[in-house]
Amino acid sequence: MYSYERLLQENKAWAAEQTAINPEYFNILAQLQTPEFFWIGCSDSRVPANQITGTQPGEIFVHRNVANLVINTDVNLLAALDYAVTHLKVKHVIVCGHYGCGGIKAAATQTDFKPVLNMWLRNIKDVIRHHKPELDEIRDDETRLDRLVELNVQEGVYSLAKTTIIQRAWKQEQRPDLHGWVYGLKDGLIKPVFEMKAGTHIDPLYEYDNL
Ligand code: CO
Repeated sequence: MYSYERLLQENKAWAAEQTAINPEYFNILAQLQTPEFFWIGCSDSRVPANQITGTQPGEIFVHRNVANLVINTDVNLLAALDYAVTHLKVKHVIVCGHYGCGGIKAAATQTDFKPVLNMWLRNIKDVIRHHKPELDEIRDDETRLDRLVELNVQEGVYSLAKTTIIQRAWKQEQRPDLHGWVYGLKDGLIKPVFEMKAGTHIDPLYEYDNL
């Protein structure tokens, strides 16, 4: 059996199991999607949103990319954000990073990862530059990278607050709240590190007044 065939086999078993527990399971899910949360996480295979939060299909709308970045020109992320906020009307947007993130680690080195990865990781180098004094104070390498993971999540939350998608929803519907979390690969626990309640004021330079 090829490795991918195991996935298809497990899928059949899973579908049968769900139907056995609740015959209407898929009918209900197929009709309606009303998640309360939008999750922006790392593509890392060890950080599956539903599993680590004990949630079911239908509860979290998910976008994942390398090192859970929020880039203001990323059409993929913005389309997912717009759909989640404007149409699904989620109440919370969560940027969830994780300690031991390979993307974060790579960005902190001088290694050339070739054009596309270099382009992507450049955004994390900017986070390092913005927080250089704080990061330089930390002597231990692992502790410094852990802090960078937290700061990257914090910058992600700020980047969300700078979008008109979020600002319009804040102005018109007083939602969603923005959360910055970090998941620990070593203990499986999520640490909330940063939060922005709906309506929080940011640097006026980024605030639009004609929404
Ligand atoms: Co990662």
